[in-house]
Amino acid sequence: MLDSQMSVVEPETFRDAMSSLASGVAVVTAAGLEGGPCGLLVSSLCSYSATPPSVLLAIDRRSRSCTPLLAAEEFGIHLLHAGQGAAAAAFASRAGHKFAGQQWSWDGPVPRLADALVYLRCLRARVVEHGDHAVLIGDVTRCEAAPGEPLVYFRRALDWQLTAPDRP
Ligand SMILES: Cc1cc2nc3c(=O)[nH]c(=O)nc-3n(C[C@H](O)[C@H](O)[C@H](O)COP(=O)(O)O)c2cc1C
Repeated sequence: MLDSQMSVVEPETFRDAMSSLASGVAVVTAAGLEGGPCGLLVSSLCSYSATPPSVLLAIDRRSRSCTPLLAAEEFGIHLLHAGQGAAAAAFASRAGHKFAGQQWSWDGPVPRLADALVYLRCLRARVVEHGDHAVLIGDVTRCEAAPGEPLVYFRRALDWQLTAPDRP
């Protein structure tokens, strides 16, 4: 494994380069350590395996949600739709009570936002520690999708508009 002291690439150079990777964004939620909900915005989410259906995401260990999220047996993933810029900003914030302005309810032990393009309920399958993030792999136990366009993150902005060409 490469020691962080040995890295020849500056973190900012790396972040700049990776800002050219267009992605969707998702709010990941779990029960907090004191019983209330916790959650954060992520762009590191990807589909991992189809058998079993599973997802992979990376969580910054400095985030307040990291400890409760990695401790939770179940967590929720909400892929955001194009109209959810405000929810994205709320869950990317390091201040305040993120759920205060949201419509949400408990889906068993998982805080579920009322509005999302896709909702996945996941069972924690594996946690891998590397660098300043932890990789969380979850097996998907519920999968619900709604029609709509995704909120797109590209070049450090979330206000991109997807225009699909007309298809026959
Ligand atoms: C577009 C975008 C994508 C992000 N992706 C991730 C991510 O994949 N993993 C992560 O840990 N933080 C990510 N963050 C940062 C967290 O959303 C942010 O640090 C959040 O405030 C953490 O909240 P918490 O401290 O309440 O847990 C992202 C932020 C933005 C704006």
